[in-house]
Amino acid sequence: MAEPETLRSADGALQARLEAVAGPVRIAGREATAYGYNGGVPGPTLRLRPGDRLQIRLVNRLDAPTNLHVHGLHVSPEGNGDNIFVTVDPGESFDYDYRLPEDHPPGVFWYHPHHHGTVADQLFGGLYGAIVVEDPEELPVARERVLVVSDTSLDAAGRLRQPSTMERMMGREGELILVNGQVRPVLTARPGERERWRVVNACTSRYVRLRLDGQQLDLLGIDSGRYAEPRRVEEIVLATGNRADLLVTTAAGTSTLQALGVDRGGMGGMMGGSVSGDVGPLATLEVTGDEAAPAAPVPPSPRSRDLRGTEVTERRRLTFDMGMGGGMGGGMGPGGMTFTIDGREFDPDRIDQTVSVGTVEEWTITNTSPMDHPMHLHVWPMQIVAEGGRPVDDVRWQDVVNIPAGGEATVRVAFDDFSGRTVYHCHILDHEDNGMMGVIAAG
Ligand code: C2O
Ligand code: CU
Repeated sequence: MAEPETLRSADGALQARLEAVAGPVRIAGREATAYGYNGGVPGPTLRLRPGDRLQIRLVNRLDAPTNLHVHGLHVSPEGNGDNIFVTVDPGESFDYDYRLPEDHPPGVFWYHPHHHGTVADQLFGGLYGAIVVEDPEELPVARERVLVVSDTSLDAAGRLRQPSTMERMMGREGELILVNGQVRPVLTARPGERERWRVVNACTSRYVRLRLDGQQLDLLGIDSGRYAEPRRVEEIVLATGNRADLLVTTAAGTSTLQALGVDRGGMGGMMGGSVSGDVGPLATLEVTGDEAAPAAPVPPSPRSRDLRGTEVTERRRLTFDMGMGGGMGGGMGPGGMTFTIDGREFDPDRIDQTVSVGTVEEWTITNTSPMDHPMHLHVWPMQIVAEGGRPVDDVRWQDVVNIPAGGEATVRVAFDDFSGRTVYHCHILDHEDNGMMGVIAAG
């Protein structure tokens, strides 16, 4: 398995140049006419530490507008920070400047375009890359790997295949599923080694259920920060946009990293059809050779904050829905379908939620449609406190929270710092492009 090039911060700073290009890029072992940052799929991995300053010059060599979102980073949404209202036209460039707080949670994050209307097309074409924020104290592992899982569809000539109307409604799932831009790469290790895998679900719409039978998996966290204790798991479900920070302790033999389908609902009575997206083998892990010396124990995690005992300033209810035609926003999605939050389609000039800096809020997010919607809030991570009305009994911080068809989840958010305007949306990016997004303003 090849990994993308790593760009690492030094002395508290990283300066990088990301050129979004259209043209020949290497995908699945062949030349494809697709997109890539700096000509690669995925783009370079950015490795940072809490407190760092990250400066990125984004150069647009596509034939459509683009911009950049640093998904999951707790940084300012204003000016040339994580400002998704910026438009970078073809041939132009933009200088982003992000400052990570000293107490930024460790974990794996990622970057991708966020120009409303073309987000799904640009991700599906190959524009994404990983960001790692290191732990204050490194974990004792034999090696770290970054696995960016993504999907796309290419025709016989290696050109991007355009999705059908139905695929846009359901959220397109590519025919090719890739790890670091490759089909079924091979990883090798010695028995008894502990590895740390950073897995990003960069698929446009697909959810994946990952298994690695025959190997020991301990989950350190999903999305942001770490659990108090690593959790022994058999499988992990990642909605689009989620990431897993995982320890793999190897045992001799050959194991297959499987991506199994996830039933994320369908159009229900509206049109029939559902998505389960069975995938099959993603990668092969070959473990051979002499047994490695036992790894040192994993030190306890820096304690994550728990908002369950905190006083809540404001409670809100948000409703994700899909309908046939004539939404209040007036827009019309594929097949006449509308994708709404609180009955409205996205309008960049309207503020849907106004929050006060320094407060803690509780949001109950309901999904009245027959399809799951993974809810993503920019800038501020969410602590899941209840699912389907049942309280959650551990501390779970995520920035993408799946809201099951006909279900709900309750999260708490600490709006401690950062003012400005940003968005929350469904991370099935075809839904986001079709209006399932709202604007939040903090002040
Ligand atoms: Cu990963 Cu608003 O996006
Ligand atoms: Cu959705």
